Amino acid sequence: MAQNKQLLLQKRPIGLPEKDTWKLVETEIPSPKIGEILVQCEYVSLDPAMRGWINEGRSYIAPVELNDVMRAGGVGKVIESKNATFNVGDYVYGQTGVQQYMLTDGKGYHKVDPSLAPLPTYLGTLGMPGMTAYFGILEVGELKEGDAVLVSGAAGAVGSIVGQIAKIKGCTVIGMAGGADKCKYLIEELGFDGAIDYKNDNVATKIKEYFPKGIDVYFDNVGGEILDLALGRLAMHGRIVICGAISQYNNKTAIKGPSNYMSLLVNRGTMRGMVVFDYAKDYQKAAMQMGQWMLQGKLKSKEDVYEGIENFHDTFLRLFSGEKLGKLVLKVSE
Ligand SMILES: NC(=O)c1ccc[n+]([C@@H]2O[C@H](COP(=O)([O-])OP(=O)(O)OC[C@H]3O[C@@H](n4cnc5c(N)ncnc54)[C@H](OP(=O)(O)O)[C@@H]3O)[C@@H](O)[C@H]2O)c1
Repeated sequence: MAQNKQLLLQKRPIGLPEKDTWKLVETEIPSPKIGEILVQCEYVSLDPAMRGWINEGRSYIAPVELNDVMRAGGVGKVIESKNATFNVGDYVYGQTGVQQYMLTDGKGYHKVDPSLAPLPTYLGTLGMPGMTAYFGILEVGELKEGDAVLVSGAAGAVGSIVGQIAKIKGCTVIGMAGGADKCKYLIEELGFDGAIDYKNDNVATKIKEYFPKGIDVYFDNVGGEILDLALGRLAMHGRIVICGAISQYNNKTAIKGPSNYMSLLVNRGTMRGMVVFDYAKDYQKAAMQMGQWMLQGKLKSKEDVYEGIENFHDTFLRLFSGEKLGKLVLKVSE
């Protein structure tokens, strides 16, 4: 009989997670009680935030406990239902965790339609990263037509959508990514106005060239030195969206703040953090708009899908090596 493969958090890593951070176990597939559904998980979302969830200590969400199933968003199919809201055959999105089967009472789960978009897209552009991009650039970044926008992590799940939304809204958009191929992709496939290869270019020089009048909005996915350089080039009333700081997530020492922060004072600028969950009540509206842009060919969605729950660790590390394009997804069902 089929078993349920589950990935448990075994150890809290210091620095980059190692293979023994996780443990793969096999358990019996559970049966739903009254009010519950059994979901066969098909795809799980691999997100940089997962690195933060396995640290001890206070954050915007409680850490994953040792020996618990690793937390992850996922999409799957309802294969047994004792809950009137969900029928067998429905596809759902929710916090499935990294496992092949899971029971839930359905709270926090919503149905998705695979005839409208491929399932992995519900983990990317039509899911949490897409919502982050939408609310981050439009609301937190207070984007205005004509703004000069810089986005880091631009070939990733959030950044690629941020840049495309800014183009739709009539802005000049420069993306930052690691390597010539990703930079080419930003310009040729996604229609960015320019790109900076932060691994090979002189970033300070390039920012100066691309932003002669300064940066109106910097959408920060990476933190660290790049945040500092962007701060140093802020335009008057410029806005910085603190979405993430992936360059710092595997630090073994405490993060050091940016030294150019006085630019905020000089330029009457703002730097504001965001957490996507705060916008949950408006997700539906945003997803409708994003879907429409996709249908109109204005917004491209790219998912990079790897296979096999046993490959979780190696696939997860791609977030930090950059060996992937767009939204990183793992297919966990067999
Ligand atoms: N605040 C929120 O609510 C929220 C929600 C979702 C995501 N986020 C944050 O948004 C950021 C992007 O998330 P995502 O899901 O879209 O990930 P992603 O961009 O799809 O993947 C991560 C990318 O980061 C780049 N990267 C890795 N290490 C780096 C380093 N040291 N310096 C610069 N770039 C580095 C890599 O691209 P290259 O090849 O270009 O290096 C990699 O592909 C993350 O910081 C994440 O934590 C925040």
